[in-house]
Amino acid sequence: MQILRRRGWELPESEATPEAVFRDRRRLIQAAAAGSIAAAAWPVAARAATPEADPTADLYPGPRNEAYTLDRPLTPEEVATTYNNFYEFGSSKGIWKRARDNLRIRPWTVHLDGDVEKPIEIGFDDLVRKMGVEERLYRHRCVEAWAMAVPWSGFPMAKLVEFAKPLAKAKYVRMETFNDPDMASGQKEFWYPWPYVEGVTMEEATNELAFIVTGLYGKPVPAQNGAPLRLALPWKYGFKSIKSIVRFTFTEKQPKSFWEKVQGREYGFWANVNPEVPHRRWSQATERMIGTDERRKTLLYNGYGEFVAHLYEGMDRRKLFY
Ligand code: MTE
Repeated sequence: MQILRRRGWELPESEATPEAVFRDRRRLIQAAAAGSIAAAAWPVAARAATPEADPTADLYPGPRNEAYTLDRPLTPEEVATTYNNFYEFGSSKGIWKRARDNLRIRPWTVHLDGDVEKPIEIGFDDLVRKMGVEERLYRHRCVEAWAMAVPWSGFPMAKLVEFAKPLAKAKYVRMETFNDPDMASGQKEFWYPWPYVEGVTMEEATNELAFIVTGLYGKPVPAQNGAPLRLALPWKYGFKSIKSIVRFTFTEKQPKSFWEKVQGREYGFWANVNPEVPHRRWSQATERMIGTDERRKTLLYNGYGEFVAHLYEGMDRRKLFY
């Protein structure tokens, strides 16, 4: 199918990214890794990606939750905010400017509906003040075998679930990104099943690691990283961590996610990180830390097994890791 040729993560980076962007990024990354340029030499605009006049800016940085520690250095801010997957703004890793210049996040209404006591609509600014903000250092592992380590800010997804008051029959949470092709030109690409959808079980949603992200590096999260709110599920491949969410629907039915609709044999519902289960077309044994040439061994559940392995006991292992 033609569609399959369009997806960035099936291609070598050099093909998936417009060549000029790729060359420039590689040059910068290599130079930064070699120490010949400081992080300060990264594009100034990247560092200004968060608008100054954000009415929730006073919430950041929230207190650091020390329960979550890293085994590797933090990825520099300039790297994590200029190397992104956000297909709504294009399929290259260099979409940060397009997202920054086009994503309008105010007003932003969040819907909590489906199997709940009473559907709720709440503005993002009210929601984040109600939930509060803390900071967590998490690893993030993309299915494309690159990784980063970043300080997210936000609140536990369990808190949002509690606020939504789901009914006992709800088994899953289905999440949806905005759908506005005039704002996000990638959504004009009709071969994708917009809007972006993801889903988790209620047990996953209420696991202590599941985190609703509203900030990054002690500031409101930049557009390109999924403003104003996105998910972080650090034990799963990054495509599960849906960006710019507008709707949480509680349901009895297992949701079908965006990439599952595109190619279900390669991008399944569970998508837990496992070095021993290769993607159909590449190994998952190692990962490259973005901004460096360093390769590290991939960890089962991305190193978060102590928090989540029990969720999958007794399940069919064939499906859990893609
Ligand atoms: N969410 C939406 N709405 N659209 C996307 O294209 N890409 C996913 C995920 N969430 C994506 C998304 C993928 S593949 C990854 S690896 C992460 O976002 C990337 O997050 P980052 O750009 O903050 O590193």
